[in-house]
Amino acid sequence: MNSKKGTHKKVTKIGVLTSGGDSPGMNACIRAVVRTSRYYGMDVFGIVRGYQGMLDSDINEMDSRSVANIIQRGGTILKTARCLEFYEPQGRKKAYENLKKKGIDGLVIIGGDGSFRGAQLFSNEYDIPCIGIPGTIDKDIAGTDFTIGFDTAVNTAIESIDKIRDTADAHDRLFIIEVMGRDAGYIALHSGIATGAEHILIPERKTDMEALVASLEEKEKRKKLVNLVVVAEGDEFGGGNEVAKTIKSRLPNLDVRVAILGHIQRGGSPTCLDRLIASRMGYSAVECLMEGKHNVMVGIMNNRMHYTPLNNAVKAKQKVSEEWMKIVKILAS
Ligand code: F6P
Repeated sequence: MNSKKGTHKKVTKIGVLTSGGDSPGMNACIRAVVRTSRYYGMDVFGIVRGYQGMLDSDINEMDSRSVANIIQRGGTILKTARCLEFYEPQGRKKAYENLKKKGIDGLVIIGGDGSFRGAQLFSNEYDIPCIGIPGTIDKDIAGTDFTIGFDTAVNTAIESIDKIRDTADAHDRLFIIEVMGRDAGYIALHSGIATGAEHILIPERKTDMEALVASLEEKEKRKKLVNLVVVAEGDEFGGGNEVAKTIKSRLPNLDVRVAILGHIQRGGSPTCLDRLIASRMGYSAVECLMEGKHNVMVGIMNNRMHYTPLNNAVKAKQKVSEEWMKIVKILAS
């Protein structure tokens, strides 16, 4: 291996990449990394399609103009990919050689916990320090109150759910609405509370189908026929279609429809909050590389920058507070 921890030299050429599922605000973050690097006189390179671009040597020098007019755009100008080869030692060796050819001596990785695992493996083996920035709509990373894209995704979800409520109300229907969140229910929880959903099903809590059916039955009796059930795709019951199938079989008089919001939640112009946190995190990542604060994930906690060693920046299934669930129940009565 090419280095031991603590022997890093001053960083002069930064590579930046986006990896894993895209999230709105990634472009604002790329912009911040590029412009901060240039401000401090460092060269900066965009690596295309995440770790795949390191393997393919698809690496291009950027300047302040390369990131003009992107702060408001969803997606990522650097593109993104999930690259299995990078998780093999041979893949990382090839990536390292390609970076060395360009003289890149510091990396900023914008992505989720899978991307950080790759960065951690890489930084343990090679003398290129890595800084992670949490970019995922799921908000399921330890060490940060925010991840880039979550706020936009939730706002996209509530816009759609509000529309669904209009038609649900017109027809006296029960809607099962599935939102994203393979392992985490934050989009469901936040968008559900914000739209007055009657029930919210999330992976963090056991889904009590009997209680749900009983509650809908009770509502049917008192003629409350318009009900929205927001389900995270990763809920143990199996997502929107499965939930609807069971409810239809148990309560055949209810008029049930399913709406799966899907990837619409991953796109669109980032909200103010996502642009702000993306800008702060991108700026801070470059400062970390300059100051020798290496192999950490930059997060924000209690409105202050917070740094978590990459090996602790894992997927976090946080406990959802009882109080939040109580709020859902009381407000949906
Ligand atoms: O980025 C996270 C996420 O949006 C999850 O909520 C979802 O399950 C997954 O990505 C879908 O990813 P893809 O369709 O890109 O494989």
